[in-house]
Amino acid sequence: MTNAHAYAAKLTLCGSISLYPVSLGAAMHLAGYRALGLPFTYVPFRVTDLGGAITGMRALGIRGLGVSMPYKQQILPLLDGIDPLAAKIGAVNTVVQEDGRLLGYNTDCVGAVRAIEEIAPVKGARALVLGAGGAGRAVAHGLADAGAEVVVTNRSLDKAEALAAEIGGRAAGVEEARNAGRYDVVVNATSVGMGEIAAESPVPEEAIPAGLLVMDIVYKPIETALVRAATRQGARVIHGGRMLLHQAARQFELYTGERAPLDAMDAALREQIA
Ligand code: ATR
Repeated sequence: MTNAHAYAAKLTLCGSISLYPVSLGAAMHLAGYRALGLPFTYVPFRVTDLGGAITGMRALGIRGLGVSMPYKQQILPLLDGIDPLAAKIGAVNTVVQEDGRLLGYNTDCVGAVRAIEEIAPVKGARALVLGAGGAGRAVAHGLADAGAEVVVTNRSLDKAEALAAEIGGRAAGVEEARNAGRYDVVVNATSVGMGEIAAESPVPEEAIPAGLLVMDIVYKPIETALVRAATRQGARVIHGGRMLLHQAARQFELYTGERAPLDAMDAALREQIA
């Protein structure tokens, strides 16, 4: 074996594939490897040819890949096995290579559940999920799978109805946000609060009672209009970075088999999104 082979054999490669290069995953995973002294590294790949990238993953023996825009659905038929919850959601954000087989997972749903469970139990909770797009699907499926009673709203009601039927929950119009106080936890999984609609909150401030658990999955900006309104009202607030951290922590466990060093990964994430 040459020195180059010996080196490659010792170093496990993970990374991410996306049309848009993202550094958040790399920052968190590399910090985690460093904290535990693991012989792993992580490279974000900008990919335009998904099939070619997957063939490359097999050929190069890449251990794990995070999958983001726009490949979370397109990747399903290219894999050898799909975790049942990821299959139900219809989206894979994590691929793990196990003895030459590519297995797909969805860690966004786990991330949402763990972020909430740090504060309050999800089992039996009444949860209002705002949004039935890609993120809303992962959150609603994750919460329902963990035993919450889920109500889904969406600007276009048909998507909320379809998602509610899949998870055995109920659909409602966006005006249901006015009844936020009837729920144990309210999650914004719409894009309201980011980009051009950064000034808007999907829940009216006066509808947020003190003590309500409010999670916004938007992490840019970290202080969304909803987070600010919920904080003013004395609600318990989980910002989008926490779900991002926990979904990466689940990926870390799948790639390395080790418990994720949350504090080290969180510090790296905060440096990126502060
Ligand atoms: P993501 O993967 O981030 O979930 P997405 O699948 O495009 O992105 O979903 C965006 C979500 O934000 C959807 O629930 C969308 O509602 P529609 O399905 O009706 O489009 C919601 N959304 C986006 N802009 C919105 C706005 N201005 N008001 C209310 N909801 C909005």
